[in-house]
Amino acid sequence: IADQLRNVLITGCSSGIGLALAVKMAKDEQKRFKVFATMRNLAKKEPLEEAAGHRLGKTLEIKQLDVCDEQSIKTCVNSIPDRRIDVLVSNAGMGLIGPIECQSIEEMKTVMDTNFFGLVRLLKEILPDMKRRKSGHIVIISSVMGIQGILFNDVYAASKFAVEGFCESLAIQALKFKLQLSLIEPGPVVTEFERKVFEDGMKMDLSAADKETAEMFTNIYLKNYKQIFQSLGQSAEDVAEHTVKIILAENPPFRHQTNTLYTPMTTLKYADPNGDLPIDIFYKMVFQHDKIFSASLNFIKLLRWRSRKSFDLGKPSQ
Ligand SMILES: NC(=O)c1ccc[n+]([C@@H]2O[C@H](COP(=O)([O-])OP(=O)(O)OC[C@H]3O[C@@H](n4cnc5c(N)ncnc54)[C@H](OP(=O)(O)O)[C@@H]3O)[C@@H](O)[C@H]2O)c1
Repeated sequence: IADQLRNVLITGCSSGIGLALAVKMAKDEQKRFKVFATMRNLAKKEPLEEAAGHRLGKTLEIKQLDVCDEQSIKTCVNSIPDRRIDVLVSNAGMGLIGPIECQSIEEMKTVMDTNFFGLVRLLKEILPDMKRRKSGHIVIISSVMGIQGILFNDVYAASKFAVEGFCESLAIQALKFKLQLSLIEPGPVVTEFERKVFEDGMKMDLSAADKETAEMFTNIYLKNYKQIFQSLGQSAEDVAEHTVKIILAENPPFRHQTNTLYTPMTTLKYADPNGDLPIDIFYKMVFQHDKIFSASLNFIKLLRWRSRKSFDLGKPSQ
């Protein structure tokens, strides 16, 4: 389908990455995409309409789709000519931070339902068509937290790990049907997500947590939250640009991290099969804040040491 117009369905386009991606693809100079930009609440469509400008109704159409509602997915897909979706971008998602003692199981289920089952529901509806046509690209906005957990992001990380495990399994079958699957893994991105998560964190009732945990959350996590986004954060447009590159790639990779500043942290996971290294480094970064720099330097040293070690394989030590 190289020169053919591709139908792209994107979820969660009321703001952030979904909105930026929908607009970027609709404005493609070569007009390679017809974008079905979806959102659960059409009352929020104004920012997208404004950003899409005169592409609205031409290369971009706005549709209702709630990833937690099977019927809304079905109705949306049925409204697309021949139900043909060449590229599905599963982007809708939500965050949750804080001590688990202060979160209800219901809140946690909503996160899993949106971030994980949302993807599953989409694929149950769209995958059979793609298999039949033996063509399609499934792009999932995952997160670096789908590879490596972070303090006070327990349930959010779990939801993204679920997505990653699900996709790793599915990718093997997809290959048989000539379908492509790509996980986009951004680090911090400055969007509504960041603002909502921070505000909810600030409002959180911490009375169910012990004093030490509550203080850790308020005085360490929340205190540094903004700064992390300011120093490491990417823009939604930046993530959209990476995503378009992956969509247009001839052989799109299974995983793509969008933030090179973050890559050393996720690489730690693969550097130590015991899994202690990333936990230890994160512990040091969080609880000995002034030592971040030295931890990073140690990490680089360690990588260099490891690569030297692998070059020396087969030779006697020392
Ligand atoms: N921001 C980050 O730091 C970051 C980092 C890594 C990965 N991500 C991932 O990137 C994706 C997009 O997030 P973002 O940063 O662009 O945040 P955002 O601006 O808050 O956008 C999230 C979008 O998902 C939608 N959504 C939530 N629940 C939905 C549902 N049940 N059905 C349909 N849409 C739903 C939201 O709609 P409403 O407006 O109606 O709530 C919104 O349009 C998420 O999967 C997130 O996990 C974000």
